[in-house]
Amino acid sequence: MSDSQSKHIAKSLVPEYIRELQVYQAGKPIDELAREKGLTRISKLASNENPLGPSPFAIKEMTGGLWELHRYPDMHAYKLKTSLSKLYNLKKENIILGNGSEGIMAYISRAFISPGDEVLTSENTFIGFYILSRSVGAKLKTVPLTKDYRFDVKALAENISEKTKVIYIANPNNPTGTYITKDEFDSLMAHVPKHVLVVLDEAYFEFANHCSDYPDSMDYRYDNVLTLRTFSKAYGLSGIRVGYGFGNEHLISNLTKVKLPFEPNLIAQLGACGALHDTPHLERTLKNNQELYEKTFKYLESKNFKPIPSITNFITLKTGSEEASNEMFRLLLDEGVIIRQLKANEMPDFVRISIGTKEEMDHFFEAMEKVIPEYDKKHGRAE
Ligand SMILES: Cc1ncc(COP(=O)(O)O)c(C=O)c1O
Repeated sequence: MSDSQSKHIAKSLVPEYIRELQVYQAGKPIDELAREKGLTRISKLASNENPLGPSPFAIKEMTGGLWELHRYPDMHAYKLKTSLSKLYNLKKENIILGNGSEGIMAYISRAFISPGDEVLTSENTFIGFYILSRSVGAKLKTVPLTKDYRFDVKALAENISEKTKVIYIANPNNPTGTYITKDEFDSLMAHVPKHVLVVLDEAYFEFANHCSDYPDSMDYRYDNVLTLRTFSKAYGLSGIRVGYGFGNEHLISNLTKVKLPFEPNLIAQLGACGALHDTPHLERTLKNNQELYEKTFKYLESKNFKPIPSITNFITLKTGSEEASNEMFRLLLDEGVIIRQLKANEMPDFVRISIGTKEEMDHFFEAMEKVIPEYDKKHGRAE
């Protein structure tokens, strides 16, 4: 079959709102860079993962589970739901599990959004939700971030219309690392009609929870709010894809209807149970992050960059132009350090650096010392 014939078939089969989507771009994998450049010292600071790795408890649980791989997993995930319900003092009926929190975003799109429904959110936020809601034909309405790169709750409230079905808020936001406060959350909720669903994406909750004005959604019990959290970040389990959500049991039971029955898989359920019980590993993770966040932030400031204050495990800074971002990315890549360009988030004039281990951040500082003189030949500092 010719290329034009197969294109024609795809065109007639695939709805326009799918054809218009862009494929999600992940951070550059370590193996790929090693293959391309023959480097041995590589630090991946591109995907906001846990640099300390998974909890040893999680590994033990998962290893034990390998002998059960011929069996389907427990589709009710009894053990994991029991652990989560104890930790958060909730009924199991209020919990949904998925292949990462993005898996649950896919269920939300399937269960609640119909073609033409409006999804209201911000510019410069996590693009996974843009893609998933567009993939079911939603119309995306976005408002700009505030000047200090935070979700603009006032603008969101003003843009709620009779067509609005879902409001998506990443708190803290990726890729800016900023957050909306308790007061801002309260003021937004005062404007949200009861029939509009608010999706609160708290992927970085564990890193943010020490901030006294951060609204921990567990302290609220709104019937139209769904909270999403993940084992991918602070719990160090991105590779097995497991996330969880909390909400009113009628929403959860409808999400369960569109979910594939055996997600998350057996190993993911076991790993998540192990990780939840390893509080010391979580504490080590948060301590490592706090110390190195502060060191990295100060380092960037000492080089006259203006990083955005973040309450997460990453720092975003303005380079001032797409060319400057590309150059910083490329020069650091030559030194074996992978950071993230943010063109896909419509922030081409910014780059994002995830916080790694002490060794990885030392590698980043050393690489920057080499890169900055070259970078400075063409690029200054952005205001
Ligand atoms: C704000 C936000 N939400 C969700 C996710 C996806 O998390 P998961 O791995 O649980 O699908 C990410 C990952 O980077 C994120 O930054």
